[in-house]
Amino acid sequence: MNILIINASPRRNGVTSGLLGEMSSNMDKGHVVETVRIDDLAMRPCIGCLKCRPDKPCILPPDGAQSLAEKIRWADLLVFGVPVYWGNMPGTLKIFFDRNVPLFEYCEARSVRYIPLPRLKGKAAMLVVTAGCPFPYSLLPSQITGTVRSLKTVLNAGGVKVLSVLRVSDAFEFEKKKDAYMRKAARLARSI
Ligand SMILES: Cc1cc2nc3c(=O)[nH]c(=O)nc-3n(C[C@H](O)[C@H](O)[C@H](O)COP(=O)(O)O)c2cc1C
Repeated sequence: MNILIINASPRRNGVTSGLLGEMSSNMDKGHVVETVRIDDLAMRPCIGCLKCRPDKPCILPPDGAQSLAEKIRWADLLVFGVPVYWGNMPGTLKIFFDRNVPLFEYCEARSVRYIPLPRLKGKAAMLVVTAGCPFPYSLLPSQITGTVRSLKTVLNAGGVKVLSVLRVSDAFEFEKKKDAYMRKAARLARSI
């Protein structure tokens, strides 16, 4: 299986990166695994022209938004590591999604009969979502739950099946519960 790990944390040695690293090293060696750090990609924000709809290339000059889209097409399984920023995904990951509307769904923007067609059907995803907020507040709609909902809005539009969500609370005190979270991450990776 082709597995693409997408790390949306800018912190190379942060909680999200640590958990994704643990998942990567516990995946069966028969898989082809690639990791991309969103912060390593240069991406201009979407300019909202919607000229990409229903199925055209983005009019902006090619950049990281296209190269990551190619890797998503290649992958069978997407593993997203996402720190909660203001109850949502980091803006960098959102820029990638905004720049790739037709990667996820084909829809005629001006059509009266709005029938979106998922473009990534058959692919699956696992989510690792980390929050500074302690449990149970971390599960409020304004925290992890809102972030998962936002991610699922895009992935569900694409027909990507979300297999699991690892919710990590209290990231500022991560050391205290690190072993338990690492075990969970390893178990999820071995289940693939
Ligand atoms: C700009 C910004 C906004 C944040 N907003 C939230 C938030 O709304 N809720 C929360 O629980 N933590 C919030 N945090 C804390 C991050 O979720 C936490 O630092 C992160 O999960 C740690 O992951 P990392 O070590 O991979 O960076 C925020 C952090 C930053 C930098």
